[in-house]
Amino acid sequence: MKHQDLIKQMTLEEKAHLLSGRDFWQTQSVKRLGIESMTLSDGPHGIRKQEGAGDQLGLNGSLPATCYPTAATMANSWDPALGEELGKMLGEEAASQDVCVLLGPGLNVKRSPFCGRNFEYFSEDPYLAGKMAAGYIRGIQANGVSACPKHFAANNTELRRMASNSVMDERTLREIYLTNFEIAVTEGHPKSIMSSYNMVNGVYANENEHLLQEILRNTWGFDGFVVSDWGACNDFTDGVRAGSHLEMPSTGGDSPRQLMQAVYEGRISEDEVDVRVDELLDVMLSTRKAVNPLKGKPFDVDAHHAFAQKASEQSIVLLKNENNILPLKKGSKVAVIGEFAQKARYQGAGSSVVNCTKLDHTMGVIGNFDLNVIGFEAGYPRHGAPDAAMMQKAAELAKKADYVLLYLGLDEISESEGLDRSTLAIPDCQIETLKAVSDANPNVIIVMSAGSSVEMPWIDRCKAMVHGYLCGQAGASAVLKVILGEVNPSGKLSESYPYKYEDCSSAPYFPAKERTVEYREGLYVGYRYYDTAKVPVLFPFGFGLSYTSFAYSDLKVSDKEAAFTLTNTGKVDGAEVAQLGLPKGLPQGGREQDRHHPA
Ligand code: BGC
Repeated sequence: MKHQDLIKQMTLEEKAHLLSGRDFWQTQSVKRLGIESMTLSDGPHGIRKQEGAGDQLGLNGSLPATCYPTAATMANSWDPALGEELGKMLGEEAASQDVCVLLGPGLNVKRSPFCGRNFEYFSEDPYLAGKMAAGYIRGIQANGVSACPKHFAANNTELRRMASNSVMDERTLREIYLTNFEIAVTEGHPKSIMSSYNMVNGVYANENEHLLQEILRNTWGFDGFVVSDWGACNDFTDGVRAGSHLEMPSTGGDSPRQLMQAVYEGRISEDEVDVRVDELLDVMLSTRKAVNPLKGKPFDVDAHHAFAQKASEQSIVLLKNENNILPLKKGSKVAVIGEFAQKARYQGAGSSVVNCTKLDHTMGVIGNFDLNVIGFEAGYPRHGAPDAAMMQKAAELAKKADYVLLYLGLDEISESEGLDRSTLAIPDCQIETLKAVSDANPNVIIVMSAGSSVEMPWIDRCKAMVHGYLCGQAGASAVLKVILGEVNPSGKLSESYPYKYEDCSSAPYFPAKERTVEYREGLYVGYRYYDTAKVPVLFPFGFGLSYTSFAYSDLKVSDKEAAFTLTNTGKVDGAEVAQLGLPKGLPQGGREQDRHHPA
């Protein structure tokens, strides 16, 4: 043990209390021994440090912080280095607010597009998710703050999230639902990890020795501490025995008392408790040492906002561009339609909600761009039924313009922690507005805001689609730069877009009808299923258009690496994500047979 001298001086009561939180966000301290408490705060795309009353769902306000694009958005960059840069900014803001442990990134695999938290997660592919997460972790920890990847493990539904039991074979568990965490742990070296609410094959994650000891610590070499998701601790003593170090939030002293009783009764030895205390103390002491000199140091709000915009620019996916309608020429005459252009849709709901330092809305920033904006109409209500009067006004405006920028997407309620989605459709009121507007003017360019995949049976009604996902506080300008060609889009989808929900491999078993969630589709998640079963999709995993074209040549593959020459064969600068592993004979990272609308 590293901190034996300190532990020798601690009473059993002090040790038991250290393993359970002091309040909603802080750990206990042992003042007489100089052990200071540390603060843990959400979240994965911006700090949510609550100074007043704590709550889990972001209901009470938090200190202003930068809201970066969410993980689902960033994954479209396929760029762990960009994730690392973002992580550094998060780590800096965390330290400045005296946060020692940042509760993120979230990296659960998107088993189903219905999962309400998909906007907070990276991908349907464990490799991409793991690589992105490792980048974030390296960045967050660069200044000594601890990252806390979550939710370990097989936490892929919000329905009955505190009681569900994820049941699957060991191969599926390891290859799909643990590979992401394995990469994050072995390449990112997080100082902590969050155990999930659910059971995995009948044992709560926070009490699961197979996960916490055999795999996490013994196989992957994890040497940080395990914190329970908020309220995910069921039997405190079993958790400590299995390899969990910190119960959050506080249970008002009940759990420590139970643990002490268990020691007195010989159900767990004090030596076992000491090991957990030692592992936890190691991170408490090192993060405190790193954060103490940084707390209160202001961060550069404007520079972080600018980075949030850059991150968004590199994550935007161009899904459709008929007759190269985009980029628009300078000075183009456009009508802007859609409630989301007035009030941005830029982050999801729940514990990840960030109280932004500033927030760009399209109508607030569009004046900075060389466009002839002839007017704005909301076109549809943010929530509720189609509104005929709003639609008519939108159609009238559309008639007068050369192009319509139509902002659509999912509303806030559709993407929330604690609630799975029940449809992949965007709201009816928006679809009706699209119909009315495209009847009035065929040059419709849709700007999509949604943190997870949506069905698009109406896609023929637009000429182009720019998918901004949930682009954070500075995304509005990023989208406009793409529309004008100041940025050439290079994002590629990190999840598949099926034609309809029923096409998903997990659809017959999701949502689960009872507490047990059967992962009957096994390994066949996302593109692994669509490719194998030859189920056509609207947009495949990895899809994304550019304003230029690329050619691949001289491909040489060995068992360790692939080398090739990539040539920009178009007229403008651009960036390309090279993808390996697509079916043979297909050009340039796209799968033409799956493409609904050619570029
Ligand atoms: C969420 C976690 C979050 C925690 C603290 C839980 O409900 O599942 O992701 O970090 O609350 O807010």
